[in-house]
Amino acid sequence: MSRPTTAPSDTLGIGTPAGNRRFRRRLLSWYDRVQRDLPWRESRDPYWVWVSEIMLQQTRVAAVVEHYKRFLRRFPTVAKLAAARESSVLAAWSGLGYYRRARMLHAAAKKLVRDREGKFPTTAEELRELTGVGRYTAAAIASIAFDHPVAVVDGNVERLLQRVLGKMLATEELWTTANHLLAAKRPGDFNQAVMELGATVCTPRQPKCLVCPVMEMCATRGQLKSAAKPPRQREREIHYVFDGRKDQVLLVQRARDAALMPGMWELPQVTNVNRSGQPWLTLRHSITVTDYVVRVTRSSAPQGTEGVWLAKTRLTKLPLTGLTRKILRAAHFI
Ligand code: ADE
Repeated sequence: MSRPTTAPSDTLGIGTPAGNRRFRRRLLSWYDRVQRDLPWRESRDPYWVWVSEIMLQQTRVAAVVEHYKRFLRRFPTVAKLAAARESSVLAAWSGLGYYRRARMLHAAAKKLVRDREGKFPTTAEELRELTGVGRYTAAAIASIAFDHPVAVVDGNVERLLQRVLGKMLATEELWTTANHLLAAKRPGDFNQAVMELGATVCTPRQPKCLVCPVMEMCATRGQLKSAAKPPRQREREIHYVFDGRKDQVLLVQRARDAALMPGMWELPQVTNVNRSGQPWLTLRHSITVTDYVVRVTRSSAPQGTEGVWLAKTRLTKLPLTGLTRKILRAAHFI
């Protein structure tokens, strides 16, 4: 939808200095009133901010909160993270998926401790040198932890800016627009406020325009459709066996060079399933664009399974796949 030719009388659109100021003022006062109480907002320690921003890549806020608290209890400082074994880091990451993020976080922590005594660089440019830190994450850390006036653009910010302006914007235009709008005195709050508004009000479907603090300044009021269709979810069925005895369970380790979740532990999978038998457990699990129906049979592992009997007490320290942890919980084994 294009921008209306005659704006309503109370509209002072963004793009002019006065309009930009108005946008900032409204956005920040809304954020001060309604911001969510999230654990990473309790401190501006760059380590806290960094961990939260890496977890929030590809994962929703609600799914991150408990993992974040647990991870920081386990690794409260960058030095503790750097000193940990990779398997412990992966174990603490279990359930968040995209394990490459955890490996890169760990590698970057080691480098920070080795080369800079654990001290973070403060500019977005230097932060980008950390493994796993791209343009978005560098700007988020620099603005939130160090008050540097750099804007962020993520999927939420992109949708919100395009709706407010009433037109699709190319990548560089998005970053330039966000940087013009940025509240230079409170860059970290401004960035978090735009993301928050996108995540909670200016949602992809059925945006809540009536409670939006910048509705009067918005060219489309939610009408601009996203160009990208949400990916179609695929359905798959997957079968595992739970081979348990007393306080032990048989698990197998995924290949170290597997494309997905390398080196992590899971229940033995079965490909040749006798469909007449009732599964012991059935549950649903989604990974990116695939919805799995997971069936678990309680039986011995198939002949030739190269599994290891592991005691229940060891499982908290082992990098289990998120699905394995979910099954073992559903089975009340852990
Ligand atoms: N999405 C990613 N990081 C965020 C933050 N700090 N606040 C709100 N939404 C976010």
